[in-house]
Amino acid sequence: MKFFVDTAEIADIRELADTGLLDGVTTNPSLIAKSGRDFMEVTAEICKITHGPVSAEVVALDHEGMMREAEVLRRIADNVCIKVPLTIDGLKTCRKLTSDGTMVNVTLCFSANQALLAAKAGASFISPFIGRHDDNGFDGIDLIRDIRLIYDNYSFETEILAASIRHPVHVLECARIGADVATMPPAVIKSLFKHVLTEKGIEGFLADWAKTGQTI
Ligand code: G3P
Repeated sequence: MKFFVDTAEIADIRELADTGLLDGVTTNPSLIAKSGRDFMEVTAEICKITHGPVSAEVVALDHEGMMREAEVLRRIADNVCIKVPLTIDGLKTCRKLTSDGTMVNVTLCFSANQALLAAKAGASFISPFIGRHDDNGFDGIDLIRDIRLIYDNYSFETEILAASIRHPVHVLECARIGADVATMPPAVIKSLFKHVLTEKGIEGFLADWAKTGQTI
């Protein structure tokens, strides 16, 4: 499973990229606003840190406007992945961009039928929002399971990019089902490393090592 980080905070992206475990980055207008940075500038900076796909989202709602914005965004770097909303105009834009060889991430997916449409439109990635689905009384993990089944039935190549991930159990469930990518806030990625027995084990080994008086 590929790991993307869902943030526009450069320090966090650098720290995670340094682990060698980061495969890409996703942003959205809310994350750009939170960073307080200029959209174009921060996207260009992120694209230099990772060679993986960097999702940059259009804000126009009509096809022509989306195409205009995508044109500006895709000039930033080769690894920019244009993020479009799951609407008729969004999927029209997706079809046009992917047939030109541009990566597209279709976002705000809340149903398996929407994911089916995105795959038919040639999306590189579909982003089902697990956490927001859960928040509204639906099972976000069931959504991932349905999309996996449908994509496998028809051998669609669109990658399932599980988004709106809130905790490590979401990641575990996505990995069990076979989501292709998980995009996570930095804190969730860091939490995956942690286990109380790992910490306790290190503590015990170091205490015993100290007793030997040796060095390596
Ligand atoms: O980038 C899209 C998605 O990951 C947003 O997550 O936590 O705002 O629902 P969240």
